[in-house]
Amino acid sequence: MAAGGRAREPRVLLCLGALLARWVAAGLEAVVVGEVHENVTLHCGDTSGPRGPVTWYRNDSETVFLLSSDPSLRPVEPRFSLVNGSSLHIGALGLQDEGGYTCHQGLNGTRRFSVQLKVASGPDQIEVNISATGWLPNGTRYTTRGSQVDFSCSSGSQPPPVVEWSFRTPSISESFGKNLSVNCFTLLLMSPNLQGNYTCVAKNLLSGRQREVTTELLVYWPPPSVPRCSAEIPSGSLALQLMCRWEGGYPHPTFLWTEEPGGAVVGKSELGVELLNLSQLSDGKTFKCVGSHIVGPESGASCVVQIRGPSVLSEPMKTCFVGGNVTLTCQVTGAYPFAKIQWLRNLSQPKVVIHPDSHYLITQNGQSSTLTVQNCSRDLDEGYYVCRAENPAGVRAVDIWLSVKEPLNIGGIVGTIVSLLLLGLALVLGLILYYSPMFCWKVGSTFRGQDRGDVMVLVDSEEEEEEEEDAAAEEEEEEPNETEELPKERHKHGHIHRVTALVNGNLEQMGNGLRDLQDDISEQESDIVQDDRPV
Ligand SMILES: *[C@@H]1O[C@H](CO)[C@@H](O)[C@H](O)[C@H]1NC(C)=O
Ligand SMILES: *[C@@H]1O[C@H](CO)[C@@H](O)[C@H](O)[C@H]1NC(C)=O
Ligand SMILES: *[C@@H]1O[C@H](CO)[C@@H](O)[C@H](O)[C@H]1NC(C)=O
Ligand SMILES: *[C@@H]1O[C@H](CO)[C@@H](O)[C@H](O)[C@H]1NC(C)=O
Ligand SMILES: *[C@@H]1O[C@H](CO)[C@@H](O)[C@H](O)[C@H]1NC(C)=O
Ligand SMILES: *[C@@H]1O[C@H](CO)[C@@H](O)[C@H](O)[C@H]1NC(C)=O
Ligand SMILES: *[C@@H]1O[C@H](CO)[C@@H](O)[C@H](O)[C@H]1NC(C)=O
Ligand SMILES: *[C@@H]1O[C@H](CO)[C@@H](O)[C@H](O)[C@H]1NC(C)=O
Ligand SMILES: *[C@@H]1O[C@H](CO)[C@@H](O)[C@H](O)[C@H]1NC(C)=O
Ligand SMILES: *[C@@H]1O[C@H](CO)[C@@H](O)[C@H](O)[C@H]1NC(C)=O
Ligand SMILES: *[C@@H]1O[C@H](CO)[C@@H](O)[C@H](O)[C@H]1NC(C)=O
Ligand SMILES: *[C@@H]1O[C@H](CO)[C@@H](O)[C@H](O)[C@H]1NC(C)=O
Repeated sequence: MAAGGRAREPRVLLCLGALLARWVAAGLEAVVVGEVHENVTLHCGDTSGPRGPVTWYRNDSETVFLLSSDPSLRPVEPRFSLVNGSSLHIGALGLQDEGGYTCHQGLNGTRRFSVQLKVASGPDQIEVNISATGWLPNGTRYTTRGSQVDFSCSSGSQPPPVVEWSFRTPSISESFGKNLSVNCFTLLLMSPNLQGNYTCVAKNLLSGRQREVTTELLVYWPPPSVPRCSAEIPSGSLALQLMCRWEGGYPHPTFLWTEEPGGAVVGKSELGVELLNLSQLSDGKTFKCVGSHIVGPESGASCVVQIRGPSVLSEPMKTCFVGGNVTLTCQVTGAYPFAKIQWLRNLSQPKVVIHPDSHYLITQNGQSSTLTVQNCSRDLDEGYYVCRAENPAGVRAVDIWLSVKEPLNIGGIVGTIVSLLLLGLALVLGLILYYSPMFCWKVGSTFRGQDRGDVMVLVDSEEEEEEEEDAAAEEEEEEPNETEELPKERHKHGHIHRVTALVNGNLEQMGNGLRDLQDDISEQESDIVQDDRPV
C-alpha cells in the first residue's frame, strides 16, 4: 500500500507537467498570480526573442484590445506596457484585473497564447479577541486559573484565508486546527500548563502571503491562604524585622506595611520584609501588612503584629546548701517579638552577665530560662541574681535572692522532733491529771487555775515559735514573709481565746479548750511530719 502510494505521486506530477507543457505548446493557457497594488508581467508563450509584432487582448466575456507593439496604436491605459518586445506588464494591480488575457503574435497573428491572471489580496488585517481577565501594564494578557477563555481570530482576504490557532511554550508546540476566515475555540478550565504564546496565523493560499498575531497569555492564581505576619530581631542586628508571608500564589504578591492606627506607611515591597529602626518602637505598637495580588481580593488580604514588652516571673528567694545545686527559674511572658533572656549577678557594678560554665548551667526553653548554680558556696554564690528579659518594646528584670546554708544535721532534727513530741505528751498527761473530775471543785474556788493556764499557754506558744523557726530552716524554699506572718497571728489569737475561757471558770468551755489544745497539738504533729519531708 505505502509503496504503491509513493509510486503513484510522481506519476501524477509527471502527468500534470505533460499537460502544462501541452497547453503551452498549443498556445492554450497559463496561470499567473499577482497581488493587489503590485506589478505583474504576462509572457506571450516562451519568450525566446522577438518574433514579430504582438497584440494583447483582455479576453473574458468579450475581447478588449489592450496594447500592441505597433507604435501607432496607443495602450488603453498607461498601466499597461510592453516589456522585452512581447510581455505585458501591468502596474498597480487591482482585483478587476483578474481574468483571461490573450496575446496574438506574428505578422498575421498566427500564434496565440492565453494567460489566466489571478489577483490575490491580503490578508492585511487579522483580528484576535481573547476574553482574558486583563492586561498587565506592559500589554501582556493574563487570566485566572480555572477560568474560561474564549479565543477568536478572524481575517479577510481574496480569496478567503485559512486561519489557524496554535499554542507554543518553550517545550510544547500544538495546533488547534484550521478554518476559513474565522477560527474560534474555548478553553474551559485554564491551568498553569496553558500559559504560553497563542498565535493566530491567517494565510492567503493563493499568494502565500500570511499574517500572524501572537498573544502571550499568563495564567495567574492568588495564594490559597491568608497572609501571616511576624516580627523578629535578626541576630546581630539592631533593627526589628517585620515579615509578611503569603505564599502559594503566582505571581508573587506585593506587600504594604503600615503603622496602626493612622496608616503611616512603613514600606512597600515584593518580599514583605521591612526593617524598622528600634528607636521607632514602643510597647503596644501595631503594624499591619496588606498583601495585594493581581487576581486576589480587591482590597487585599491583611494581618497585624503587635509589639509587646516582656513580663518576667520568678521566685523572689531561693536557698542552696553548701556544696549542693540550686536552680533558679525565670518565665518571660507577653513578649513579642521574643525577648532575649539573660542572667546577671550584681555583686559588682555594673551587673555582670553570667555565662554558662562548669559552675553555672543555663537552659532556655522557649521564653523560660533556668540558671543552675552547682556546688554552691556561701562566699561566691550568696546574693542577688537578676533575670533580665529584653525586646525592642522594653526591658524587665527581677531580682532573686539566693541564700546559701550549711546542710542540717538530720540526727539533730529528728532528736528535736522526738523530744518535742515527748514534751507535748507529758504536758497533756499533766493537764489531764490536774483537771481530772476529782479536783474539779478546786478550779471553781481559786484563781490558781487562771495562773496555771497562763503559764501553760505561754509555754505552748514558745514551743510553737521554736518549731516554726526550725521548720523554716528545714524548708528548702523560703516563703515570702507576708504569708509566713499570718498563720502565727491566728495561732496566738486562738490561745488568747482559751485563756479567757479558763478565767471565766466555765467548766464546759474549759473542756472545749482542752479539746482544742489537743487538736492543736495533733495539728502541730502533722505539720512537723510535713516539714520533715525535704530533709
Ligand atoms: C479568448 O480565449 C478563448 C480561449 O480561452 C479563445 O478561444 C478565443 O479565441 C480568445 N479570443 C481572442 C479574441 O483571442
Ligand atoms: C526581459 O528579458 C531578459 C532577458 O531575456 C530578462 O532577463 C528580463 O527579466 C526580461 N524582463 C521582463 C520584465 O520579463
Ligand atoms: C511597478 O511598475 C511601475 C511602472 O508601471 C514602476 O514605476 C514601479 O516601480 C513598479 N513597482 C514594482 C514593485 O515593481
Ligand atoms: C500570413 O498569412 C497568409 C495567409 O493568410 C500566408 O499566406 C502568409 O504566409 C502568412 N505569413 C506569415 C509570415 O506567416
Ligand atoms: C471579544 O469577545 C468578547 C466575547 O467573546 C466580546 O464581548 C467582545 O466584543 C469582543 N471584542 C472584539 C473587539 O471583538
Ligand atoms: C510583561 O510582564 C510580565 C510580568 O511582569 C512578564 O512575565 C512578561 O514577560 C512581560 N511581557 C513583555 C512583552 O514584556
Ligand atoms: C469554521 O468556520 C465556520 C464558518 O465560518 C464556522 O461555522 C465554524 O465554527 C468555524 N470553526 C472553528 C473551529 O472556528
Ligand atoms: C512567548 O514568546 C516570547 C517571545 O518569543 C518569549 O519570550 C516568551 O517566553 C514566550 N512566553 C511563554 C509563556 O512561553
Ligand atoms: C534610626 O533613627 C534615628 C533617629 O530617628 C536615626 O538617627 C538613625 O539614623 C536611624 N537609623 C536607621 C538605621 O535608620
Ligand atoms: C549537681 O549537679 C551536677 C551536674 O548536674 C551533678 O553531677 C551533681 O551530682 C549535683 N550535685 C548535687 C548535690 O545534686
Ligand atoms: C543588687 O541588687 C539589689 C536589688 O536591686 C540591690 O538592692 C543591691 O544594692 C544590688 N547590689 C549591688 C552590689 O549592686
Ligand atoms: C566545690 O567547691 C569547693 C570550693 O568552693 C571545691 O573545693 C570543690 O572541689 C568543689 N566540688 C566540685 C565537685 O566541684
